[in-house]
Amino acid sequence: MLTRERAHTWIERWDRQQEGYLPYREERFTALIDAVAAHRPDPLVIDLGCGPGSLSARLLARLPEATVVAVDTDPLLLALGEAEYGHLPGLRFVRQDLREPGWTAALGLDRPADAAVSTTALHWISEPSLRAVYAELAGVLHPGGMYLNGDHLAASAPRLRRLEESLADQATARRYGDAPPEDWSQWWGAVAADPDLGPLVLDRSATHHGSESLLLDSHVTALRAAGFTEIGPLWQRGNDRVLCALLP
Ligand SMILES: C[S@@+](CC[C@H](N)C(=O)[O-])C[C@H]1O[C@@H](n2cnc3c(N)ncnc32)[C@H](O)[C@@H]1O
Repeated sequence: MLTRERAHTWIERWDRQQEGYLPYREERFTALIDAVAAHRPDPLVIDLGCGPGSLSARLLARLPEATVVAVDTDPLLLALGEAEYGHLPGLRFVRQDLREPGWTAALGLDRPADAAVSTTALHWISEPSLRAVYAELAGVLHPGGMYLNGDHLAASAPRLRRLEESLADQATARRYGDAPPEDWSQWWGAVAADPDLGPLVLDRSATHHGSESLLLDSHVTALRAAGFTEIGPLWQRGNDRVLCALLP
C-alpha cells in the first residue's frame, strides 16, 4: 500500500538524489516557473518526462490557477507522483512514452496548451525521436506558445563545453565535498528492494540507455524545425540550462 506519507519520503529522497547531479536544481525550477508565470498566470501546461512530479507540484504551488498534464512512461515514478500529488485539483498524470508517434493524443487535452516544460528528461531521447517529439508538441501548443527545457545542455564548442563541465563539477564539489548524496543507481536499487514498490520497477534499459540528446544545438535545431521561431537559453549555470522556445 503506497500511502501519501511513504510516497513523500521517496520523493524527498528522489529530490536529494537529483540534486547530487544538479546543485542548482531548485534555482532552475524557480527560473523556469518564473518564465511560465511571465507568460500567463493560469496556463495549461504539459510536463514532459515529469518523473514523480517535482516540477509540476512546484509549478502548481506558485501558480494555483494553472492546470498541469504531467506525462511520463515510468510506472513507479508515476505511482509516487499520484500518491503524493494526486489530490491536487490542477494536476493529472498520464502514462505515455514520448517516442511513440501520436503521443499527444494520450494527453486528453481539450484545448491547446499554453506552455510545455521539462526537466532532466529529454536527453534520454535520440535526436530523430526528439525532432518528432518537438514537431508533435508544436501541434498542441497555442500560437505564441512557450516551451522550456531545463537540462544539462552542453555547448558544441569543445573548450567551452569543458569549461561548462568544470563549473558544474566545482559547484557540486563545493556543495557536497566528500559526502555526495546517493546516486541514481542507489536510489533505484533502494526502491527496487522495497517489497511494495519493487514490483513497479521496470527494466529501464529501453528508455535510459545513455544520454542521447545532450547538445544544446541539437535541441535548438529540432525546435526550429518544429516551427519555434525565438529560441535561446534563459538561465544557465555551467552546462545546466533552461532553454526557451516560442512559437510565432
Ligand atoms: C531524471 S528523471 C527527471 C524527472 C523530473 N522531470 C525531475 O526533474 O525530477 C527523467 C524522466 O524522464 C522520463 N523519460 C525518459 N524517457 C522517456 C520517454 N521516452 N517518454 C516519457 N518519459 C520518459 C523518465 O521515466 C524519468 O521520469
